[in-house]
Amino acid sequence: MCGIVGCVGEKQAKNYLISGLHRLEYRGYDSAGIVTIGENNKADLLRAKGKVVKLEALADKKPSTDTIGIGHTRWATHGEPSEKNAHPHKAGDIYLVHNGIIENYKELKTELKNYKFITDTDSEVLAALINSLYDQNTTLADSVNQALKLVVGTYGIAVISVRNPDEIVVARSGSPLIIGVGDNETYIASDASALIGFTDKAIYLNDGEMAICRGDGVELRDMSAQPISCKVETIETDMQAIQKQGYEHFLLKEICEQPSTLRSTLSGRINVKDKEANLGGLNLSSDELRKIEHVVIIGCGTAYYAGLLGLYYLEQLVDGLTIDVVAASEFRYRSFHLPKHTVALVISQSGETADTLACLREIKRRGIKTLGIINAVGSTIAREVDGGVYVHAGPEISVASTKAFTSQVAAITMFGIQLAQVKGADVKEVSKYIEELAKLPDEIEKIVSKDKEKIEKVAKRYAQYEHALYFGRDTLYPVAMEGALKLKEISYIQAEGYAAGELKHGPIALIDDTFFEVALLIDNWLFDKSLSTLEEVNARGGHIFVITNSKKAIKSEEIIRVNTKLDILAPILINVVQQLFAYYVAVARGNDVDQPRNLAKSVTVE
Ligand code: M6R
Repeated sequence: MCGIVGCVGEKQAKNYLISGLHRLEYRGYDSAGIVTIGENNKADLLRAKGKVVKLEALADKKPSTDTIGIGHTRWATHGEPSEKNAHPHKAGDIYLVHNGIIENYKELKTELKNYKFITDTDSEVLAALINSLYDQNTTLADSVNQALKLVVGTYGIAVISVRNPDEIVVARSGSPLIIGVGDNETYIASDASALIGFTDKAIYLNDGEMAICRGDGVELRDMSAQPISCKVETIETDMQAIQKQGYEHFLLKEICEQPSTLRSTLSGRINVKDKEANLGGLNLSSDELRKIEHVVIIGCGTAYYAGLLGLYYLEQLVDGLTIDVVAASEFRYRSFHLPKHTVALVISQSGETADTLACLREIKRRGIKTLGIINAVGSTIAREVDGGVYVHAGPEISVASTKAFTSQVAAITMFGIQLAQVKGADVKEVSKYIEELAKLPDEIEKIVSKDKEKIEKVAKRYAQYEHALYFGRDTLYPVAMEGALKLKEISYIQAEGYAAGELKHGPIALIDDTFFEVALLIDNWLFDKSLSTLEEVNARGGHIFVITNSKKAIKSEEIIRVNTKLDILAPILINVVQQLFAYYVAVARGNDVDQPRNLAKSVTVE
């Protein structure tokens, strides 16, 4: 949440700052700002309420040759979205951008009695604190260091000073920061996407580290001011991956590119001929894998629902395995007990979600092995887990998560296959999963290439409703919840996902003409039971839209039939239809589908 950029060197700073903020805008988009320092150590501060494009319009009116600057795109925590509360914050000679929350800002504020605060933010308190410690005998880095020792909370910060406009001081604890290493140019960014096209060399800051960044180099330190050596890594992502490539929205692009992103998830990990799945990187021996008796799956939002669907597959695949799937935001404060021989699967697209990270750290502290299923390469969770896999879905820019879900479910399934194999499961049973996984990308391809128009037409029919109920049984229950989440977050239609069998225990009371229902059905052993639920809804005047792989007669207002031979993994195909449905509903309602209101892509605060 919140995007930070910065650069120092020989080139004009504004270019990178604005471009970087556009790329990081998915992290928050209620206000944005930049400050650059130029001739005569004069600072030029520009801030605007709203999206980066508003800031850019201001910046375009003020040509600048300044070669040092920092910038920020905000997702408000303390203080409403406004120009006044936008970063950078000025305090005396310094300017600061901050991502995170200063929890003890009220106490610090009372101690800074003589400072006149202008904003409602916790971040300004940190700026004022650094400024109060920044006298003629102290360097900017030392003042930042002293101030951070007094702070409780999370931060990724970048600070510059008009007294020494050759360096940017950055520090991190709980909020990501990357330093891009260019030719006589050093860049700062909250994530690697901002750096693409500027440099492919990056230093990933760890928690408890700070750095002094100059055009000609970077000095890395720990919080006791001891030097640390810099590990420069190569960023693999290319420019194409972060562009819309002709699609109207990133969301549509990300839904439609699932055949290829899923192929990357599966590549080199399943072998249909030998009927094997093998995830390199688990860092567990066959013996350790064999001993696993319990799996706890942790995630938030869509990653949580991917975990819930994964549960059904793991249960079917691995005899005797017990599994819990938990929402990280709840689990982190529970007095949970994990049995012996547990492994934790930590699921996250961004690899930065604060609640998921907190669970990971607590579970590790208890000596339980943690495995990541992560998309963002080099992210904090990916760096802190004991082992795991990248899903290789490529940058997911639209705030609503789509392609990550598909790849996460595939990765959990491969983990299950590997576990089943090592525990001596029946090859025939396991190979069904491998065969379906191998076919899945082509099956998704059929939907995204042939069914879009049909789905759009149905979406238009339901776009004016304000309430929706999604329901499905078994593997389709988590899919129903994911479908409802997708719809609500981009269309703002109130939508809930239920286990089909639960409808008659309460939710069915809701059904009237203000609701439509999305019924998910698979032609399997539970089909007739699902059909009964559907009939119960029909009998109460429901407005049902069915998504199914069945060819059988089903009474409903609208139906999309997925033409597939897949059975076990058909729920993933049903989900792709739901993704497109939510997308077209949001478009029909004229919403900002890539950056829905009140949200941010990477939830790095509680
Ligand atoms: O980056 P993560 O996968 O850890 O993010 C988890 C959730 O914040 C995320 O899935 C969120 O629910 C999305 N907006 C859903 O589309």
